[in-house]
Amino acid sequence: MADKKARLTIDGLDEAIELPVYSGTEGPDVVDVRPLTGKGCFTYDPGFVSTAACESKITYIDGGAGVLLHGGYPIEQLAEHSDYLETCYLLLNGELPTPEQKEEFVNTIKRHTMVHEQMSDFFHGFRRDAHPMAIMVAVVGALSAFYHDSLDIDDAYHREVCAYRLVAKMPTIAAMCYKYSIGQPFQYPRNDLDYAENFLQMMFGNPCEDYKPSPVLSKAMDKIFLLHADHEQNASTSTVRLAGSSGANPFACIASGIAALWGPAHGGANEAVLNMLEEIGDESNIEEFVARAKDPNDSFRLMGFGHRVYRNFDPRAKVMKKTCDEVLAELGIEDEPLLKIAKRLEQIALEDEYFVERKLYPNVDFYSGIILKAIGIPTTMFTVIFALSRTIGWISHWNEFHSSPNKIGRPRQLYTGPSKRDYPA
Ligand code: CMC
Repeated sequence: MADKKARLTIDGLDEAIELPVYSGTEGPDVVDVRPLTGKGCFTYDPGFVSTAACESKITYIDGGAGVLLHGGYPIEQLAEHSDYLETCYLLLNGELPTPEQKEEFVNTIKRHTMVHEQMSDFFHGFRRDAHPMAIMVAVVGALSAFYHDSLDIDDAYHREVCAYRLVAKMPTIAAMCYKYSIGQPFQYPRNDLDYAENFLQMMFGNPCEDYKPSPVLSKAMDKIFLLHADHEQNASTSTVRLAGSSGANPFACIASGIAALWGPAHGGANEAVLNMLEEIGDESNIEEFVARAKDPNDSFRLMGFGHRVYRNFDPRAKVMKKTCDEVLAELGIEDEPLLKIAKRLEQIALEDEYFVERKLYPNVDFYSGIILKAIGIPTTMFTVIFALSRTIGWISHWNEFHSSPNKIGRPRQLYTGPSKRDYPA
């Protein structure tokens, strides 16, 4: 696999250390630094800015060019021609399904949408005003209590069924989090509806009336799911891989991914965008907030702007912006004050030297928050919807990890604490 070599000279070492260099199908080459350990050296890369922690075939991102591919297919094409469940199949299997395979996959997911009736008891232990992400992380982790003994992670079929269960049950659990917070009865899944329609009916339906999801809103919901489905080795996916590397129960691993996603620098950004727009409150205050974002002594950042990998427009954000316009037109929302602030902010950030120089473009979460608000989803549910969507990415990476020879993850450190000293006698 190593077609090139790198040579590293270190002061004090007589000979250069030879390191194999590997090339993938796309993207930068990677230098295999493992021989360094035998020479008394580790590499140092806080934040994993330059470190490839694994080999993967699932997703490729070229941040400089604004490219995102799943199984080689550009995200724009998947958003235009595919749907969420088909993309789930692609992420899990590496290929698009035939029509027969797709039908079978969709039907299998439908047959797994219900959660064990006893799961509803879990919710009653939470305060009604608990953040839905707090409930989500606990309830998904609790799935491991229902599916543990029957699950052999070394069995490919068991891993597959585990992925089906997760993809199928996440909308049910997400909607239960919402229903619990507003004191309404949980809505059972309906298998006559498609994935996104079913989620909307579990969110907004009630036992007293028939709920008919709007086709435009269902399509927008499906697109939000699809655009968040996977994003290679980000903080939450790496967390799932790391947790999985110890052989832990996959539902518990996914719960660890949900926890990592929650923060505002990652999946919590969509909620933070809306909170920020509300805090700005009026177009006349925008300049002040932009100035704060640029001030190196102020920790405030413009939420929904910037990305570790994309130094160009986030390709998901382009699709999301279009969907956003469609949803707002369908709902007849054009003069919503928060939307006006968002549009003005976007314009300023795209023209302002500070943002242009640092290549800080609006990311996917800038627009998704606006769409979700327009659909009527409460702000605290935004990150839950991100978690629901990303579950397929997490479980696909977990499955990939367990499908090939692997090692428990164990990073090293640069120790800067005290050297050995004696306990005062
Ligand atoms: N507002 C103002 N300044 C910013 C922002 C921002 N949103 N993002 C980065 N910067 C500045 C930062 O201060 C630094 O400036 P300088 O070079 O003068 O010190 C420079 O841009 C580079 O930033 P960084 O912190 O080195 O970049 P990073 O790659 O470590 O952070 C990020 C990436 C996404 C955490 C960051 O851009 C951020 O906090 N954005 C806001 C939160 C957000 O929208 N997150 C969602 C990401 S998309 C969803 C997902 O995939 O999770």
